[in-house]
Amino acid sequence: MEKLIVYGGNRLFGDIDISGAKNAAVAIIPAALMASDGTCIIDNIPDIEDVHCLERIIESLGCKIKVNTNSLTIDSSNITNLDACTEDVRRMRASYYFIGALLGRFKEARVELPGGCPIGVRPIDQHIKGFEALGATVKIEHGAVNVKADRLIGTNIFFDVVSVGATINVMLAATLAEGVTTLENAAREPHIVDVANFLNSMGANVKGAGTDIIRITGVEKLCGCNYSVIPDQIEAGTFMIAAAATGGEVTIKNVIPKHLESISAKLIEMGAEVIEQDDSVTVKSTGKLKSVNIKTAPYPGFPTDVQQPMSTLLCAAEGRSIVNESIWESRFKHVDELKKMGANVKVEGRTAIIDGAEKLTGAIVKATDLRAGAAMVIAGLIAEGKTEIHSLDHIDRGYPNIEVKFQRLGAKIHRESAEE
Ligand code: EPZ
Repeated sequence: MEKLIVYGGNRLFGDIDISGAKNAAVAIIPAALMASDGTCIIDNIPDIEDVHCLERIIESLGCKIKVNTNSLTIDSSNITNLDACTEDVRRMRASYYFIGALLGRFKEARVELPGGCPIGVRPIDQHIKGFEALGATVKIEHGAVNVKADRLIGTNIFFDVVSVGATINVMLAATLAEGVTTLENAAREPHIVDVANFLNSMGANVKGAGTDIIRITGVEKLCGCNYSVIPDQIEAGTFMIAAAATGGEVTIKNVIPKHLESISAKLIEMGAEVIEQDDSVTVKSTGKLKSVNIKTAPYPGFPTDVQQPMSTLLCAAEGRSIVNESIWESRFKHVDELKKMGANVKVEGRTAIIDGAEKLTGAIVKATDLRAGAAMVIAGLIAEGKTEIHSLDHIDRGYPNIEVKFQRLGAKIHRESAEE
């Protein structure tokens, strides 16, 4: 067990490179097993625990993989096992993409129900609705999803809710279905487009990703390809907020500024300066920021995954901010931790009312989930004195080398054994 030690009060300065997008990579890796011919070489893979879990799962299915720093080579020509039921599958959310990928290629799979961050009820009814519409039988037995189809036939599917996971999962299966599948009310996140581009590089015919109607014309088989994952919108947002919170000046490199617009707009509204370049953004701030209201929404709205780091920033802004979390019912668990540091926050259902505190003070806190962990790191960076952050397994699932990246910007942060 490890913990992060943060000494607050240092302004962040310099440049930081953003890694490949976690939520794209965790879908692209399962999708790679749909290639029956050739190998997939995928670059810009983030070095995070969720990716390592997926590497172990695809190996357990019979894929051969080679890891070379941020590049992953996957040969899935000899898959021997259609049963993904391991501790790793249960631990993470994105393991549900093995259902769509295996169903598409083999018309059959057994995948244990996924885990992931404790941020509210996380149903998969829309995934199941999509698989059934394509002609599969879906049964949940003994904690696993069993899917089977004689044939998958393209059809029209209208999702009842905008779901990233269901959009990607059904898109995976539909690429190898017969005929045309139309997904309506589809999610539009940048990682949906990235997965569609990856599938097209493998020989699929997916059009419209990035809009709410995706049209997939099934193909007979998919082949290996070379691909590079897009930059992580959420990691970038986290560093933008950290720069604003500490009153520093940071250039966040290897990003797609368009993907960050909702975050940039809020930072500007608060009084920070955000300068967009071709593939970087610079955030400058005096650290004296105004309150704003936030409502999370599917892309292009304000991302729920940035809500927790943002609410830390609002704890130190002048005035009252109202944060409405419209995606997850239980994504304010970090608030109790922030309160230990002197934050003035009241949570009422899906709304947090934040009154900016004069200062936060260091305390012993924990990462209650992945983005809550990032929120605590930012809190530690602006707090007076020493903050200890426990339960780092959550942070390590999704942020590569978080303390090393912050050290490069001048933060006083290090990792040590929690037993010390
Ligand atoms: C993805 O989760 C991300 N995870 C989440 O990021 C992110 O918060 C979320 O999308 C929203 O952007 C991965 O990509 C691995 P959803 P996902 O299906 O796909 C409801 C992070 O911090 N819903 O878009 O599981 C659901 O309850 C993580 O990186 C149904 O009702 O989210 C939620 O209210 C945390 N039925 C809403 O839709 C379904 O079948 C959006 O969920 C599916 C979802």
